[in-house]
Amino acid sequence: MEDRVFVLTLLISLSSASVSASFFFPNITGAIPPWQKLPNATSLAPWDAFTNFSGCHSGETRDGLSKLKRYFSNFGYFPDSSSSNFSDDFDEELEKALKTYQRNFNLNVTGQLDDRTLEQIVRPRCGNADIVNGSSSMNSGKPSSFQTVGHLLHTTGHYTFFPGTPRWPVYRRDLTYAFLPGNELTDEVKAVFASAFQKWSAVTPLTFTETDSYSTSDLTIGFYSGDHGDGEPFDGVLGTLAHAFSPPSGRFHLDADENWIVSGDVTRSALPSAVDLETVAVHEIGHLLGLGHSSVEDAIMYPTVTSRTRKVELGDDDIQGIQSLYGGNPNYNGPTATTPTTTTEDWETSGGEIPYSASRWILAGFLAIGSWILLS
Ligand SMILES: *[C@@H]1O[C@H](CO)[C@@H](O)[C@H](O)[C@H]1NC(C)=O
Ligand SMILES: *[C@@H]1O[C@H](CO)[C@@H](O)[C@H](O)[C@H]1NC(C)=O
Ligand SMILES: *[C@@H]1O[C@H](CO)[C@@H](O)[C@H](O)[C@H]1NC(C)=O
Ligand SMILES: *[C@@H]1O[C@H](CO)[C@@H](O)[C@H](O)[C@H]1NC(C)=O
Ligand SMILES: *[C@@H]1O[C@H](CO)[C@@H](O)[C@H](O)[C@H]1NC(C)=O
Ligand SMILES: *[C@@H]1O[C@H](CO)[C@@H](O)[C@H](O)[C@H]1NC(C)=O
Ligand SMILES: [Zn+2]
Ligand SMILES: [Zn+2]
Repeated sequence: MEDRVFVLTLLISLSSASVSASFFFPNITGAIPPWQKLPNATSLAPWDAFTNFSGCHSGETRDGLSKLKRYFSNFGYFPDSSSSNFSDDFDEELEKALKTYQRNFNLNVTGQLDDRTLEQIVRPRCGNADIVNGSSSMNSGKPSSFQTVGHLLHTTGHYTFFPGTPRWPVYRRDLTYAFLPGNELTDEVKAVFASAFQKWSAVTPLTFTETDSYSTSDLTIGFYSGDHGDGEPFDGVLGTLAHAFSPPSGRFHLDADENWIVSGDVTRSALPSAVDLETVAVHEIGHLLGLGHSSVEDAIMYPTVTSRTRKVELGDDDIQGIQSLYGGNPNYNGPTATTPTTTTEDWETSGGEIPYSASRWILAGFLAIGSWILLS
């Protein structure tokens, strides 16, 4: 029985909208609780319908293309459009967004909805935008040599920052974190976060200490359901997994409706929607510290997370990015990141050269919509 045990944690919050249940699975290799079989999960996943647009290209009109535009808009690919009224036309704007997306995800820049592109679009992902406030990020913000000179891809930093390069100031190297009290997380769940923080403290001068004082903590972690008051509602089971705000906000929100795997081998989970909690935590902590999304697929800061997958070790790209914000850890014994061969543009936008300035801070918690798609 033990391996079939799950813990139901009630979320109690001042906001009635965020009262919900969180499901934490110690490990799942056998049976699934009957009510967790999610009969509608695949058929109702909104992004699933996008696979029907296979082959669609400029000039066509298809029912539901407006939803794809909304998707791109939510992740920052329509920088100039404040409109929420999208048409079903495959217009120039959509083609431009699509090409930017393809560049960011290392796809062939066809400007068409080819199968490989759609496969990437429907993957579950972080709710934070890839492009923040229209400023370029990921591949699309790099010089074109990044795309044409393939062998540079592995030696050149693809990490990004939020606009203005917000980061924790030099007098705040010892950060505290607290869990939303209403979540009543078990020690086992809290330990997953401690382990995730450790990945980042290992390579920087930063330290992270849990505190009970939620109101004064630098970083706050909470599981929420649906609309939880920051304009970026979660979308239920298999929806957007989590989002986190740039410094100095410190807010880290996780979708309470996901089937979070806390321990055990997530890759052997019988639950198709199983999401490894530490994998998502390591990624979101990167945002809390000032990193944006990276085009390097092996990097923790790559935007998509596949279900039943575990990825908790920082990549070279992550280490270069975080060390350019905070410097290295003098006590770090692990593999060192190769020296970043940054381009001129990297330096112009790099945190290393920009004085810390409160006026540059933005809160960047963005654009979380969509859904998990089961890739199977
Ligand atoms: C699942 O968890 C239980 C209790 O924590 C443990 O006894 C069991 O060995 C675990 N099984 C696997 C496959 O990890
Ligand atoms: C899920 O599917 C069942 C049976 O197919 C149906 O009765 C139920 O209304 C569906 N739930 C939602 C939220 O659509
Ligand atoms: C794809 O299109 C077909 C035919 O128009 C439709 O029956 C099907 O439900 C669509 N699939 C999705 C996931 O929307
Ligand atoms: C939305 O767009 C349609 C067609 O492009 C137009 O007819 C309609 O008036 C627009 N609605 C708003 C609220 O702008
Ligand atoms: C890009 O196109 C080339 C040639 O058609 C193909 O071999 C390659 O697999 C494509 N790459 C991707 C990521 O789709
Ligand atoms: C977004 O960009 C505009 C114009 O560049 C600027 O005025 C605004 O403050 C920016 N917003 C954020 C949140 O950075
Ligand atoms: Zn992210
Ligand atoms: Zn939120």
